[in-house]
Amino acid sequence: MAAHPVVFLLQLWFALCGPAPTGAAKMKVVEEPNAFGLNNPFLPQTSRLQPKRDPSPLTGPAHLFRLSGKCFSLVESTYKYEFCPFHNVTQHEQTFRWNAYSGVLGIWHEWEITNNTFMGMWMRDGDSCRARSRQSKVELTCGKNNRLAHVSEPSTCVYALTFETPLVCHPHSLLVYPTLPEALQQRWDQMEQELADELITPQGYEKLLRELFEDAGYLKAPGENEPTQQEGATRGLGTETLENCNKARSELSEEIQRLTSLLNQHGIPYGRPTAETSHSEHLAQQSPIDVTSEQLRGDPGLRGTIL
Ligand SMILES: *[C@@H]1O[C@H](CO)[C@@H](O)[C@H](O)[C@H]1NC(C)=O
Ligand SMILES: *[C@@H]1O[C@H](CO)[C@@H](O)[C@H](O)[C@H]1NC(C)=O
Repeated sequence: MAAHPVVFLLQLWFALCGPAPTGAAKMKVVEEPNAFGLNNPFLPQTSRLQPKRDPSPLTGPAHLFRLSGKCFSLVESTYKYEFCPFHNVTQHEQTFRWNAYSGVLGIWHEWEITNNTFMGMWMRDGDSCRARSRQSKVELTCGKNNRLAHVSEPSTCVYALTFETPLVCHPHSLLVYPTLPEALQQRWDQMEQELADELITPQGYEKLLRELFEDAGYLKAPGENEPTQQEGATRGLGTETLENCNKARSELSEEIQRLTSLLNQHGIPYGRPTAETSHSEHLAQQSPIDVTSEQLRGDPGLRGTIL
């Protein structure tokens, strides 16, 4: 049986507004042309690596900027990993095979901030990995020397690196607040006051704080800094703005109401396969409407259960 219009509209909404990575992962994406030649043995090693874009500017604690332009490597089993702070992470297969793999595991993108502390550096938009790009999170920890200490791949094409450096040993060395320009510090102070006075909710505060970090350049707004080679068609869904989605959602909600009242008006049961209609009259009166109104409230927690 074909999907019911209401079900279809819901699916459409989830397709438009669902979490971007899921949407993108389902999409069939043609391998980017620049993947060709990556492992071409006739090209010298250096020109085989093709970064998709330039790194983000230097941001964050200024005392770390001295790491920029340096690279630190670690050989683990058959791979050499190289971390160039504020630039990139690359991988080089240690073999004499003609088609040894070398690749970009990420380009400097943004900070990971937890508890108002710089916790790590996100390097994204590395070489294609199925429908996605490889990416790496580099955790900064205190150590005697600058050293790439550990590399793992906790999930496919997402790499976790640990970089040890004496530059982060002081307990205050990674605090976000002191690195901000005065105007943003004042904005943050004011937000704290408004939170204390309960003029904003904790969620509102979190949202404003994220915006503040974006304005400081520490975090990137979703969709910012995208490599230009990416096809707009596949990326477009992920970069839909919240406003667009909310607008689409209320339009769909009206349409669902119109359709359900039309169905009720004509006494047409809906929401269950036809085989069950005989004994699902009662359910049809309630559950589909309940489900849609629940979903349309936009609780993201419910999305997962439907998909
Ligand atoms: C990675 O960064 C280093 C250091 O800035 C640079 O020399 C190198 O060309 C970069 N590699 C790629 C593939 O972008
Ligand atoms: C957050 O940071 C503060 C001070 O920087 C520290 O005292 C506290 O334990 C941290 N909390 C968590 C959950 O890491």
